[in-house]
Amino acid sequence: TVGKSTNILWHDCPIGQPERQKLLNQKGCVVWITGLSGSGKSTLACALSRELYSRGHLTYILDGDNLRHGLNRDLSFEAKDRAENIRRVGEVAKIFADAGLICIASLISPYRSDRSGCRNLLHNSSFIEVFLNVPLEVCEARDPKGLYKLARAGKIKGFTGIDDPYEPPSDCEIVIHCKAGDCATPKSMADKVVTYLE
Ligand code: PPS
Repeated sequence: TVGKSTNILWHDCPIGQPERQKLLNQKGCVVWITGLSGSGKSTLACALSRELYSRGHLTYILDGDNLRHGLNRDLSFEAKDRAENIRRVGEVAKIFADAGLICIASLISPYRSDRSGCRNLLHNSSFIEVFLNVPLEVCEARDPKGLYKLARAGKIKGFTGIDDPYEPPSDCEIVIHCKAGDCATPKSMADKVVTYLE
């Protein structure tokens, strides 16, 4: 029995992850970017994808906002739905890593337990957690989508950082700091991740 399914078996194929990795000349893995709304997760994901592409690597971005337009359109921002959101994306990321891709997941993923659930799906060295450590004041000043303003006005309930929690990682592979007036360029942030991956 797996979850709610019974009488199911796993079927393996001789062409597996090692063969695909050899073909692509890379190691499949998941780069998981976590941080507040407006911290620059999607920008970093995109810059990282560009840097890796220029080095001949195949990547795919799983962006929280984008996935909520389709795969996760049935989910709200309540804690249990955020957990399901992260669980699903973790499973998809695992499939992409198994396909041999460098999968870049960029989601707020505010709860430590949800993120460690994803880590546990993968071999430890294949899950690279990147914390975009940008203070709330900086994210709020940027407010690229005007959502902080709406949250402060009480027009969005349960907005991360305002009236919903964000649990920063205590032990992750990469931390990128950004203070007011002192933020690295997307390229230099991406370079930091590339150096780690290399
Ligand atoms: S989560 O917490 O990981 O499930 O969130 P995620 O799937 O990454 O989606 C985050 C984007 O949804 C928009 N949005 C909200 N964010 C936080 N809290 C609330 N209540 C909320 N409502 C809408 C917001 O645009 C987030 O995008 P980013 O790119 O993080 O700014």
